Amino acid sequence: MDKFDAIVIGSGPGGYVCAIKLAQLGVNVACVEGNASLGGTCLNVGCIPSKALLNASHNYHNSIENFSKMGIEVERPSVNWSKMLSYKDTMIKDNTKGIEYLFKKNKITLINGWASFVDNNTISVNGKNFEADHFVIASGSEATSLNDIKFDEQVIVSSTGALELKKIPEKMIVIGAGVIGLEMGSIYSRLGTEITILEFYDKVLNGMDHDISKNFKSILQKQGFKFHLSSSVSNIAKEKKGVKVTYEERESNNLNELYADVVLVATGRKPFTENLKLENIGVKINPKGQIETDKNWRTTTKNIFAIGDVTPGPMLAHKAEEEGIAVAEIIAGQAGHVNFEVIPSVVYTDPEVASVGKTENELKEEGIDIKVGKFSFMGNGRAKTVFSNSGFVKVIADSNNDRILGAHIIGPAAGDLIHEICVAMEFGASTEDLARTCHAHPTFSEAVREAALACGVGAIHS
Ligand code: NAI
Repeated sequence: MDKFDAIVIGSGPGGYVCAIKLAQLGVNVACVEGNASLGGTCLNVGCIPSKALLNASHNYHNSIENFSKMGIEVERPSVNWSKMLSYKDTMIKDNTKGIEYLFKKNKITLINGWASFVDNNTISVNGKNFEADHFVIASGSEATSLNDIKFDEQVIVSSTGALELKKIPEKMIVIGAGVIGLEMGSIYSRLGTEITILEFYDKVLNGMDHDISKNFKSILQKQGFKFHLSSSVSNIAKEKKGVKVTYEERESNNLNELYADVVLVATGRKPFTENLKLENIGVKINPKGQIETDKNWRTTTKNIFAIGDVTPGPMLAHKAEEEGIAVAEIIAGQAGHVNFEVIPSVVYTDPEVASVGKTENELKEEGIDIKVGKFSFMGNGRAKTVFSNSGFVKVIADSNNDRILGAHIIGPAAGDLIHEICVAMEFGASTEDLARTCHAHPTFSEAVREAALACGVGAIHS
């Protein structure tokens, strides 16, 4: 029987990062993966392929919308969909191969197959047993269906099917104005599909700062998105051609129907614990199907840890990675820690949306005396040159000590800009610290500095 110090179950961003960190810390480690390629949802059917298609569709759309404004005259470009899909597949392959290389470099044993627990020191994979002192469950999540309606991944699709459609649809209904719905909707909207979003709440990106939700909806409407908010989808039926979606307007209780070629169900994801036979080890699962852990990611069975989407908290690759590193450190006898107050979240639309820390409403509800500094990208010279000045930077700080408590951005490269504020928050910085830091001109990041200035003495360019 093969014996290891630690076995990580799952090779997504949580699992593979944890395995590498364990190896770097001198722990004899194996990683089990059931899928043929490494990288989990994020690399194979999530973050990476969607970013590839977002990039391709953005360039296509940009060439139509903006090239001639800059004096670049081209014949109207056209989309070669199958080539676009193979570009996406190449990006997946390059990234998954990269993990294979890192596993070899760090001498991590890869076990191919689905793991199930025999007891708290043993798993079985393809009928063979493997032992370890510690296990890390990083088995991720899967898309939730609506009212148990099955995804055929052709007409009724999850994000996985949406990355592989046979052709670009004329009309697409997207259920859910969350991250997946808006990112996938953006891809197809830019490629010419009519996008109609149905959302249960009265806003997009529910849970984000209210200014973000409000402004982002109007930006997307200008891009051609149609919205039916406060609408609850009750049924999806396949038609001879396409699909019929029935939804209820929550205020009036009116039932309506919409037709499209494809419906994307983006109503959230649920933990993936199939095959694991957790009942054999007594690991506690909560009513949402998530594996419960203590603050050190130990499950109710002490030598078994759980990280990432299979546990409570935001389903974000980088949150899983942080947890993977912390757990590896704990297993290696070090202190592992994650600051959950400073986990950024990014929506990779155009413009991007990024957020860190608390929202204005959350802080008000907590009774904290806050000040808010906002700066529009209208006042940012660089944003104008790239035709992307419809967003803003909003910085929120404690009125008593000027400490930064949150930031919310819609704008060009928002997903990169947010990290300046993450670092500032990690160091307990004030808005004055940010405002007194010299920012290169002309950069998008000047808008962050201006928003910090707006929290105090006032922005220069507004
Ligand atoms: P989500 O939870 O972000 O959004 C789902 C939306 O669907 C909610 O607004 C909800 O109100 C709505 N909804 C649910 N049932 C409905 C119904 N019957 N009728 C109408 N609307 C309904 O889930 P999403 O977008 O599927 O994403 C899943 C997870 O993946 C999230 O945790 C997300 O953070 C993560 N993710 C993160 C990405 C990123 O960081 N860029 C990219 C993709 C996914």
